[in-house]
Amino acid sequence: MKPVKIGLLGLGTVGTGVVRILEGHQEDLSSQVGSPIVIEKIAVKTLDKSRSIDVDPRKLTEDPWSVIRDPEIDVIVEVMGGVDQTKAYILEALERGKHIVTANKDLMALYGSEILAKAMEHQCDVFYEASVAGGIPIIRTLIEGFSSDRIMKIMGIVNGTTNYILSKMSQEGASYEDVLKEAQQLGYAESDPTSDVEGLDAARKMTILGTLGFRTNVELNDVHVRGISSVSREDILYAKRLGYEMKLLGIAERQDDEFSITVQPTMVKKTHPIAAVNGVYNAVYVHGEAVGETMFYGAGAGEMPTATSVVADLVAVVKNLKLGVNGLKAIVPYKPKKLKTDEQ
Ligand code: HSE
Repeated sequence: MKPVKIGLLGLGTVGTGVVRILEGHQEDLSSQVGSPIVIEKIAVKTLDKSRSIDVDPRKLTEDPWSVIRDPEIDVIVEVMGGVDQTKAYILEALERGKHIVTANKDLMALYGSEILAKAMEHQCDVFYEASVAGGIPIIRTLIEGFSSDRIMKIMGIVNGTTNYILSKMSQEGASYEDVLKEAQQLGYAESDPTSDVEGLDAARKMTILGTLGFRTNVELNDVHVRGISSVSREDILYAKRLGYEMKLLGIAERQDDEFSITVQPTMVKKTHPIAAVNGVYNAVYVHGEAVGETMFYGAGAGEMPTATSVVADLVAVVKNLKLGVNGLKAIVPYKPKKLKTDEQ
């Protein structure tokens, strides 16, 4: 069985999880796809760094182009983050016929349609399950599970860092600064946590969910955003006394052919299941016209949950490779959008 060769871009929190899962579950993964999945090369920021896993140093490079341009590599797994430079790597990889798995919500929220169009042109797969809600398979669910339905509302806690902060402030009366530091140490927060606490990370994820749920080209600018930095411990405790939990909620709603998307701190009645979602956990509530109410719950950040989604995407890509088909299912047929706030 000829191995399928992978190029990994990035060996941070998620990249490390990907290596662990590929090693730990290799036998099961190989039997699912019919050949071993082998990491051929890994692009890292610095070669000289102590790491929590053993990797063959001959596989490491500081030059991502050498991974993208390696003719032996079939699939690029991008977990390095970044936008413009990373987009250049991905577009060239697609031009070279390589399939892509990415966890990069910033990239997919900003340039998803361009990347997917390039993938279609070159008959390549692009899978991005880990870009939203870490270990919850919500992207697959929206694309496949609800392809038959008309999604009316998506409501989600899609940022683990802010949910961790708000939960600890509510449950333990902890200070914002202390909990943020903890979330950073646990590898939940972005390298610049401003995008977590100011709601931008959640807005990017809601852009992706809105695009898939409403099957239209939602843009980041369409999302009205307010983060949690202005929420005080007193606000949270006061809400609690009134029977509410404070959550950073993304809400995407459709009315007829118009939609609106917001991300903001929201008081959620304690009796609503989303109020009970604490810590780094995420939850996405989806209301479809036919299916009614559904809710998905799981870890939204962190090494192993996020890596689970990345490797599941990899398995899907390799299965497609074997069958000689493309994951065109990941491509949304874009149509003109109508914002609820648009002038009529
Ligand atoms: N910083 C993100 C979060 C990581 O806290 O949810 C996962 O996307």
